[in-house]
Amino acid sequence: MPMPMPMSRHVIALSAAVCLAAGLAAAPASAEPRPRTLGELAKKHHKYFGSATDNPEFTDAAYLKLLGSEFGQTTPGNAMKWYATEPAPGVFDFTAGDEVVAFAKAHHQKVRGHTLVWHSQLPAWLTERSWTAAELRPVLKNHIQKVARHYKGKVIHWDVVNEAFNEDGTYRESVFYKTLGPGYIADALRWAHEADPHAKLYLNDYNVDGIGPKSDAYYRLIKQLKADGVPVEGFGIQGHLALQYGFPADVKQNMQRFADLGVEVAVTELDIRMNLPATPSMLATQATWYADYVKACLEVRKCVGVTIWDYTDKYSWIPSVFPGEGAALPYDENLAPKPAYHAIRKVLGG
Ligand code: G3I
Repeated sequence: MPMPMPMSRHVIALSAAVCLAAGLAAAPASAEPRPRTLGELAKKHHKYFGSATDNPEFTDAAYLKLLGSEFGQTTPGNAMKWYATEPAPGVFDFTAGDEVVAFAKAHHQKVRGHTLVWHSQLPAWLTERSWTAAELRPVLKNHIQKVARHYKGKVIHWDVVNEAFNEDGTYRESVFYKTLGPGYIADALRWAHEADPHAKLYLNDYNVDGIGPKSDAYYRLIKQLKADGVPVEGFGIQGHLALQYGFPADVKQNMQRFADLGVEVAVTELDIRMNLPATPSMLATQATWYADYVKACLEVRKCVGVTIWDYTDKYSWIPSVFPGEGAALPYDENLAPKPAYHAIRKVLGG
């Protein structure tokens, strides 16, 4: 029986040359690197994945390292709110917001502006007196335009009006609604558009994840605003969920109906809290919920991205507002990734 011929050096060299010519050699140096972070993974889907942040956290180097590397977008949790930006009438202070914007720029992150008009975190000078419509209107216009002009070109979105409706879909009786009537929303959008024509202008709220009276109110309002030519361009679904209340129904369908109205949609403040202590089974459910929420956004073309409301339990707003609850974010208090982090990675294709 003839022995197989040993391959000569000549044959080896020849086959290597053929492989090279056919492009079968090891991955060429120009191949795109594998996406490593949540931000990079989301970008593959033409979306962003971001985190809120707050200025006191800027002294925490380990926190900042992850914030700057893992996320493609950031939202200042408090820095651009009225109490921070106009602490005295007509006196503006952009220090805190500028710090967030500078960090984002240095780390190639998009910024969502949050928020121009909200009933909460207003300065005392605004809440501790009464106003006539003739007095409040110019104050509101000046606030919106000074802040939006300052951040022109630096933010991709503005949450122009935040939390305008009650749970039953009636207007929230904020100082703006009570003094100016429901038209303050259209005015705010028009004034913001004049100041920054390129930022996408959003209405933003919580408990609007699924189809119900509150999201219906936004649906009707946005439809009317579009019909009136008012520059509304996005609907922000905050997404503050709690395990004990169940996963909202129809999340994707709800996003899609807003997309069909001609506005984009963003998940702006996602977190999923639970009653403490967190058990492995609760953390597993939380992971599934995060993945399902992100998946809904991936499946709606006009859902532009997901922002979590800070990324670590170390800096979550939940325990101070809901005592006994927490563990709401994908990283724990030691900045270690939780099952939710891995579930988000997986659904993004990582
Ligand atoms: O600035 C004071 C500081 O001087 C004081 O020493 C400290 C003592 O507690 O309080 C500081 O103010 C806190 C502020 O955040 C800034 O850190 C308030 O107590 C605290 O209530 C406030 O919480 C913020 C909350 O909005 C207010 O409603 C959270 O950080 C912020 O994450 C949260 O974000 C909101 C979104 O804007 C809108 N959607 C809901 C979301 C969660 O409430």
